[in-house]
Amino acid sequence: MAMLNGVAEERASRELRFPEGFLWGVASSAFQIEGAWDADGKGESIWDRFGHTPGRIRSGATGDVACDHYHRLDEDLDLIARLGVGCYRFSIAWPRLFPNGHGPVNQRGVDFYRRLIAGLRERGIVPMATLYHWDLPQALQDRGGWANRATAFRFAEFAAECFRQFGADVPLWCTLNEPAIVAWLGYGAGIKAPGVRRPWQLLDVTHHLLLAHGLAVQLFRSIAPRTAPDLPPAQIGVVLNPQPIAPRSPAPPDVWVANMWAGMWNRLYMEPLFRGRYPADTLALMAAMGARLHAKPYDMALIGQPIDFLGLNIYTRLVLGASPRGGMRAVLPPGPKTAMGWEIYPQCISEVLRLAASYTDIPLYVAENGAAFEDTLAPDGGVQDDARIAYLRDHIADAHRAIAAGVNLRGYFVWSLMDNIEWEDGYDKRFGLIHVDFATLKRTWKASAEWYRAVALHNAVGVV
Ligand code: FCB
Repeated sequence: MAMLNGVAEERASRELRFPEGFLWGVASSAFQIEGAWDADGKGESIWDRFGHTPGRIRSGATGDVACDHYHRLDEDLDLIARLGVGCYRFSIAWPRLFPNGHGPVNQRGVDFYRRLIAGLRERGIVPMATLYHWDLPQALQDRGGWANRATAFRFAEFAAECFRQFGADVPLWCTLNEPAIVAWLGYGAGIKAPGVRRPWQLLDVTHHLLLAHGLAVQLFRSIAPRTAPDLPPAQIGVVLNPQPIAPRSPAPPDVWVANMWAGMWNRLYMEPLFRGRYPADTLALMAAMGARLHAKPYDMALIGQPIDFLGLNIYTRLVLGASPRGGMRAVLPPGPKTAMGWEIYPQCISEVLRLAASYTDIPLYVAENGAAFEDTLAPDGGVQDDARIAYLRDHIADAHRAIAAGVNLRGYFVWSLMDNIEWEDGYDKRFGLIHVDFATLKRTWKASAEWYRAVALHNAVGVV
């Protein structure tokens, strides 16, 4: 008996338990899984247009079918339930509700999300809805997209419609997903939709996204959607993707570029949201590079108003060095990488959580974490994705360390529920817990799905 106890104790000591009520989830986004790009009155999004433009998405891929989640909703809801997670983070496609970005609501689009949300509720899964996961209605892009201040107001109307339609059953709302990506990769590098290179618009785009967030939060407070009695009161937050940014060396030029980029990528978003102002040094630098900012004085109070939680998407870190001809370049440290070429660096979780905790003490969620690997479907139909299990285990263990150090982390979401279209990279980068054969659309459970199910059900991760 003593020996048995000893064994049990030994096992317990290798298990990291999470606080009671910790929310385990999986995440997805509308464009990446739904397909049905023009079904039931849906309007064109900027990602539809991007995919239909030759040369924009690798191998000529489009999101026209994606995982066909739109037509396989019940099957997918059953998969989520089988994963044993408490929460599902999905996004609502704006052009499904408002095909032209505004005007009369498309009832068939509403009906889809009603079925999705009801299906989650029937299965005991808490819905977390993201309002903007990058699929702007193309009609609004035609009027300037996020470079146009009016887009922020159109977004607020869309958000208000969602609060009214789905408010009783959605306790967790995220306004935006990763505004930094929208601005820097959509309007700076031009590698994501709308795929333009207009660095002079970077500050306006950022500002209008943050204004859209602020307007939506304000409407949320005034509409005050009441959730059903079995759900917690509704909360609203935003999902950001700050990165740990390290200089390649302690030499001043490397430290300088690392700080400069930390301003542009991290502080440009954290400071307005949590301190009500833009970082002056970053604004000055971007202004010197030609970026213009058309902000109205009262905007900052809207942007900086209190929110209920902060979601963080965390995958890796960035190491930067000064390049000989001025400017900066990313340096890839030696060691293991994911199929995206991203360094595997589990401490990125606690580093970003600590950064967030230096701005705010509101609840934090890891709203996305996960990895793409070269998964192979075995002849017996299984996927033994040990590399993904190791990645998730090490990152979840780091989240546990952050909690032990006092960070107010309330939940963790794996990106992603299933393999899907990884934006401009197309279908080759597989992030899913569930494998999707894109020829047949067959879903197959990966070993990591089984593993994560045990984590979610036991509220603990085993570290050996
Ligand atoms: C994040 C996005 C998500 C997915 C992952 C890999 O930046 O929010 O949609 O593409 O990266």
